Amino acid sequence: MYDVEQIRLDFPELQILINGKRNTFLDTAASAQKPKIVIDKMIDVMTRHYANVHRGSYTLSEELTYEYEQAREEVQKFINAASKKEIVFTRNATESINLVAATWGRHKLRAGDEILISEAEHHSNLIPWQMLRDELGLTLKVFKIADDGSFIKEEFLSQLSEKTKLVAVTAMSNVLGTIFPIQEITEAAHQMGAKVLVDACQFAVHHQIDVKKWQSDFVAFSGHKLYGPTGIGVLYGKQDLLEEMPPYQTGGEMVDIVTFEKTTFAPPPAKFEAGTPAIVEAVGLGEALRYVSHLGWDNILEHEQQLTNYATERLNEVKGLKIIGTAKGKGGVFSFAVDKIHSQDLAFILSQEGVAVRTGHHCAAPLVHRMGYETVARASLGLYSNKQDIDCLIKAIEKAKTFF
Ligand code: ALA
Repeated sequence: MYDVEQIRLDFPELQILINGKRNTFLDTAASAQKPKIVIDKMIDVMTRHYANVHRGSYTLSEELTYEYEQAREEVQKFINAASKKEIVFTRNATESINLVAATWGRHKLRAGDEILISEAEHHSNLIPWQMLRDELGLTLKVFKIADDGSFIKEEFLSQLSEKTKLVAVTAMSNVLGTIFPIQEITEAAHQMGAKVLVDACQFAVHHQIDVKKWQSDFVAFSGHKLYGPTGIGVLYGKQDLLEEMPPYQTGGEMVDIVTFEKTTFAPPPAKFEAGTPAIVEAVGLGEALRYVSHLGWDNILEHEQQLTNYATERLNEVKGLKIIGTAKGKGGVFSFAVDKIHSQDLAFILSQEGVAVRTGHHCAAPLVHRMGYETVARASLGLYSNKQDIDCLIKAIEKAKTFF
């Protein structure tokens, strides 16, 4: 039984009043609140167990190296990777995608090759490919989505060809909540000989990932949206791909033999983790994954689906409010516009009521423009969200309407 009220008590920030009001936190898509167990773990590491990893043969270093590698195993389990060697720790998903562009992209792509992305991409899964296009003379194609935000198979297939060398696509839109059929996309891409990179930042917050089922070549996500700390991200790459890729950054710990004349590199993942890594943050992410898997991914999904249905019903009842992105099976991300109220004004009034929503273009400006808006407000759910959050949101929107 999923007791959301009990679970909320695990999150200290949710207990704090905001502007004297209940903290109605509806911005998990931007960054999730942290359970106390993660905070405590990180404090414990820094107060009692701290040393550098992979570099010392003394107790503290060996113990923390073990914990750091345990965190990698937690990630491996979470995404069902074949080996922990396929898990590279980065700073965030943005860095993971830039890493692939700078190494696999530069190494493998040639002028005339095509990269295919969707209209729903976050800037992080658009700009690295634009830069690579300009550098190498590639073509960057964009497949259309439907007006309700749904994936259109024919649109995708119409842009996919033997020239496509990479499909870079989100598994869940951070603006629309649309879930993309990654397995289907990957199978079609592989038939054309293209590799697939999945931006799983939003998807990972709500679902366990199965890279074997997806047959993914690369998957990127961040720790801070997954109830872990900032400063830690993940790049999954198939082992053979990671092995043939050149390093991204160079320096300490990513080497095999170094002389003044030349250097040979360590095998992955070390090859991609130059310098002292985000040790405490990686351990924090491992703890967050243990926490979430203890709650049970199926339970979380069921709870969030019920709440998504409830939020859809309640938002649809608000006169003058339009939900942007209504694809079937969408996840708990609600972008919306309210007649006559600029989203920034709306967010400001909501904030006075203790309600946190994000506004703007959500780092997906071309998508927001394609949906017909300059800026939109967005409420997003996490595993701790409850009906009261939705009720407080609706009440605050109704109050905002009275000012205009
Ligand atoms: N990409 C994050 C969001 O959608 C920050 O808000």
